Order: sequence, then structure tokens, then C-alpha cells
Amino acid sequence: MELNGKGALVTGGASGIGAAVARKLAEGGARVAVVDRDESGASRVAGEVAGLALPGDVSDPEVMPRLVAEAEREFGRLDVVFLNAGTTARQPGVAELDLADYRRIVGVNLDHVVFGTCAATPALRRAGGGAIVATASLAGLTPMPNDPLYTMTKHAVVGYARSAGLALRADGIRMCAVCPGFADTPLIAEQRDQFTGAGFPLLTAEDVADAVLAILDRGTSGEAWFVQPGREPAPYGFRGIPGPAGSTPPPTLTRGV
Ligand SMILES: NC(=O)c1ccc[n+]([C@@H]2O[C@H](COP(=O)([O-])OP(=O)(O)OC[C@H]3O[C@@H](n4cnc5c(N)ncnc54)[C@H](O)[C@@H]3O)[C@@H](O)[C@H]2O)c1
Repeated sequence: MELNGKGALVTGGASGIGAAVARKLAEGGARVAVVDRDESGASRVAGEVAGLALPGDVSDPEVMPRLVAEAEREFGRLDVVFLNAGTTARQPGVAELDLADYRRIVGVNLDHVVFGTCAATPALRRAGGGAIVATASLAGLTPMPNDPLYTMTKHAVVGYARSAGLALRADGIRMCAVCPGFADTPLIAEQRDQFTGAGFPLLTAEDVADAVLAILDRGTSGEAWFVQPGREPAPYGFRGIPGPAGSTPPPTLTRGV
């Protein structure tokens, strides 16, 4: 995808995967708005990429429309939106529930993807089309018993991106989910030693950013791309899902490899 002169917005851009994607988009010539609730981190990364720092809590329904509008006004257009801010749960959420923590994780991991997509779509249309990538996780494709609430939100992001990606195609807007395995970022800082001690390979934030750029380059929509160490990123196949006898599964169930 030609990035030179394009306008981009990255949520969770102050750290980890978001910061790596902000840098790669800027290297390609895009002007980048760095959104994060971590105000100093957003300013630091925005400074590095000569972009725009937009502090805010993306789980607030009023924040994404405001920040999208600011980015579009500053750059004169918006072409690429990376909805990536995310967090883990502080509870399993299976025998009892801390409601505030539940609302927090659903607000960041899921609501913000919906708020961000709805806020960005009119701006992307005005630019003549564009691309949205939402960060899900390998936990959006497979069970993860140590964090069911996180896993639930990431499965929802995969379902939303695959469906919205098809719904938006008529507008020239593409949307995909990226599904990384464990990546060495502050999000997994507490488990990092366990991974390295067990010889478990971790992705770098740059590996995931390369996959996001590959998704933008591919130009497809409605796909969920897995990213794993030592493998080429690729759209997940969703093969073998049973339908009614004699039916052909709808194309949404057979996309990808
Ligand atoms: N690190 C991994 O192993 C891994 C694997 C798969 C998916 N992911 C996903 O990748 C995304 C990025 O995570 P990361 O690993 O770079 O972690 P990170 O902690 O380095 O970055 C997450 C960023 O999101 C920001 N953020 C969180 N809640 C916010 C809110 N309400 N409003 C605004 N900003 C908010 C944080 O301040 C932080 O800068 C997340 O969605 C995460 O679930 C991470």
C-alpha cells in the first residue's frame, strides 16, 4: 500500500506493537496520529515519528470520534486506522465476576474497535477508501484457559473484523484482524521470564508490525491473519466448519488459505 502522504491513526501507539506500527507507517511516508491513554508515551512516540499525539481513553464512546476528527483535520485526510489498544483481565471471570474489571477489558479490547470503526468509516470514505486493521490475538482463534475474558474479547474482534471487512468493501474500505502469538512487549512483562526460561519463542513488536504492513499491502478484507515466530504471517483458513447438509458454506466461512 502506498503510504506516502497518507494519514494514519494508531491506538495503543505509546508502547509495544502500536509504537512499532506507528514507526513503520511513518517510515513509509504516512503522517501518524498516536492515540493512547498514556499521555507522555503518546507524546514520545509522536515526537519520534514527527506525528500527532492524541491522548485519550479509547473505551470512552465520545473519545474515538473526537480523536479521529482531530487526526483528519490535522492531516487533511485519513487512510489507515490501526485499532490496537488492549489489555488483559485481572480475573478469570468464570466462577465470580469483578464487574468493573469486566467492563474495563470489554471497553478497551472490544468496544474501542467498534467505536473506532464507526468513527473512522466516514473519514476513510471521504479519502476515497482506506484500511482498518484491528489487533485481536491468537487468543481470538484458540482457547486460552488462563484468561477467558481476554479470549472472549479477541474472538469477538475476529468475528467483527471478518464481518465488517466484508460489509465495508462496497465503500472501498478494507478491514482485517491481526492475530499475533505472544510478543515481547510490556503487556506480557510479568510472564516474560517464564517464556524465556521454557525456551518458548516470542515475537517482537516489529514482527507484528511487519505483518500489519503485509496486511495493508495485500489489500484484502474480512481476513484474520495469524502471526507466529518462524512462520510467514497468513490469513487463517477457518476450514471445516459444518453447515446444513448439502449446503455450501457462505464465502465468509471459507476465506483465506
Ligand atoms: N504482547 C502480546 O503477547 C500480544 C499478543 C497478541 C495480541 N496482543 C494485543 O496487541 C495489542 C497491543 O498490545 P501490546 O502487546 O503492544 O501491549 P502494550 O501494553 O505494550 O501496549 C498497549 C497500549 O494500549 C494502551 N491502552 C490500554 N488501554 C487503553 C485505553 N483504554 N485507552 C487508550 N490506550 C489504552 C496502553 O497504554 C499501551 O500503550 C493489544 O490489543 C493486545 O491485546 C498482544
